[in-house]
Amino acid sequence: MLRDGGTEEVRRSFAQAADPRARLILDSLTRHLHAFVKEVRPSREEWAAAIDFLTRTGQRCDDTRQEFILLSDVLGVSMLVEELNAGDAGTESTVVGPFHVGDSPVRELGASIDLLGVGEPCVVTGRVVDLDGTPLRGATVDIWQWSADGYYDVQQPDRQPQGNGRGLFTADAEGRFWFRTVVPSHYPIPTDGPAGELLRAAGRHPYRPAHIHVIAAADGHDPVTTHAFVADSPYLDSDAVFAVRESLIRPFDVIDEAERAAAFGVTHPFRLLQLELVLG
Ligand code: BEZ
Ligand code: FE
Repeated sequence: MLRDGGTEEVRRSFAQAADPRARLILDSLTRHLHAFVKEVRPSREEWAAAIDFLTRTGQRCDDTRQEFILLSDVLGVSMLVEELNAGDAGTESTVVGPFHVGDSPVRELGASIDLLGVGEPCVVTGRVVDLDGTPLRGATVDIWQWSADGYYDVQQPDRQPQGNGRGLFTADAEGRFWFRTVVPSHYPIPTDGPAGELLRAAGRHPYRPAHIHVIAAADGHDPVTTHAFVADSPYLDSDAVFAVRESLIRPFDVIDEAERAAAFGVTHPFRLLQLELVLG
């Protein structure tokens, strides 16, 4: 017969925690964790393997690699936390992911975030507005994306200049922003750590559809962390981190007009993403 295993005693041990939120969290953690262990009934070897897995996850974290975020992402927990904390209006939010590291370089409107010059030219123009459509002057738009061949600058410090694919822009008086980049590709998330082991054990692929990351913020409004997904990308229906939302899939139109290309300082044909970001 399965004994209680001390569940009630552990719950009682947390009952006096001074902070009511901590009390609730520790009680819920105890109930769910003990229920999980009672259901799975791990052998001692399996429990040691689980602890080893988490130990190695921590050991793969440093200033440029965050394996715990990756694990939370592939388990769908990052998206769950996003959804639970999202407002019910405005641009939908998605995971921040593990590659928003440090401050993005401040860039002028119209600048290029692409420092490599490899890939299909792309112009992004947009506006940051509130729920009534009023432009948010001085809103900040923090952008990061991987290169045309699918790596972030921090993954290739010897091949990409620091800050490649990143930029922090300030919207003008009409809430507008624009910049140049290259069309990102779809690509696998890092699989050389414990999160990759988990994907392989599950027979899951590691790919994310092509996207550009955005954090938009303005005084007096809730910031939004979101993505613009490239509408014709593979893997939109099976993102390894479950972050695709229909409203975030955007056309990257092909523009083959010399005059418009010259106005943005790009060659043609180029791709154009128009992005309205709505803050609640
Ligand atoms: C990313 O797109 O940067 C990303 C998000 C979640 C996990 C790995 C990568
Ligand atoms: Fe990304």
